[in-house]
Amino acid sequence: MKYLIGNWKSNKTFEQTYTWFDEFAKVYQPQLGVEVVIAVPFPFIQEAHKKAHELKLLNFSICAQDVSPYPFGAYTGAVAAGMLKSHVSYCLVGHSERRDHFVESHLEIANKITQLLENNIKPVLCVDEPYAQTQLAALDQNQINQLILAYEPLSAIGTGNPDEPEHVREVTLRLQDFLNNKDVPIIYGGSTNPENAKSYLAVPTISGLLPGGSSLKPEVFASMVNSFT
Ligand code: PGA
Repeated sequence: MKYLIGNWKSNKTFEQTYTWFDEFAKVYQPQLGVEVVIAVPFPFIQEAHKKAHELKLLNFSICAQDVSPYPFGAYTGAVAAGMLKSHVSYCLVGHSERRDHFVESHLEIANKITQLLENNIKPVLCVDEPYAQTQLAALDQNQINQLILAYEPLSAIGTGNPDEPEHVREVTLRLQDFLNNKDVPIIYGGSTNPENAKSYLAVPTISGLLPGGSSLKPEVFASMVNSFT
C-alpha cells in the first residue's frame, strides 16, 4: 500500500472545505494500491467525512491533525481519540509545528499514539532525523509496528527547499533500523509537489508522500495522485 496524505494545517473555512471536495471529485482518479488521505482541521472533519461519502471518493480517507493524549474526561478543550474514531482512519502526531509552537514532548506524543491505537486510528508519526531515535524510544515495539512514519526534515517544511531523494533514501535506511521493522511504511514530507513527487516515489524505501501546501488546491493534490502510476 502507498499513501498520499495531504495536510491542510490551520487553513480553510467551511465554505472552502465544501468547494475543495466538489472540485477534487471532478479531477480525482483513484489508483489501485494508493490510499489518498486528507488531514483537515477538527471543525471540518464531520463534513469532510460526509462529503467524501456523498461524492463516492474511492481509496480516500479523512485524517485528523492532532488528538488529545488523554481519554474522555475532564480535559477542557481536548479532542479525545474516541470522538474521532467514527470519522477518521488516520491522525497526524508529532508534526514539527506541534512540537515547536505547542511544545509537545516525546512522552505526550507517545501518549497520543496510545490513545489512537486504542481507538483503531492509524497514527502518522512525523519525525526529523536528529530526534527520531529518541521519539521512537518512547514507544514499545507493538506500537511502532502499527505506525506510518513520516520523515519530515525541518529544513524542507514549507520552505520550497525539499530534501534530495538520495538523502531521503539514506535517512530512511537509518529509520528502518530504529523501527526494527522494515514493514512499517515510511513516507516523505517537505515541499513536495506534482513536479518532484515521482523522484521520491522512486526511492524503494519510500511508501508515499505528505504534502502540505500542495494539498490546498484540489487540482494540484489530485495531480499528485497521478504521480503514483
Ligand atoms: P509542505 O508541508 O509540503 O508545505 O512543505 C509539509 C508538512 O508540513 O507536512
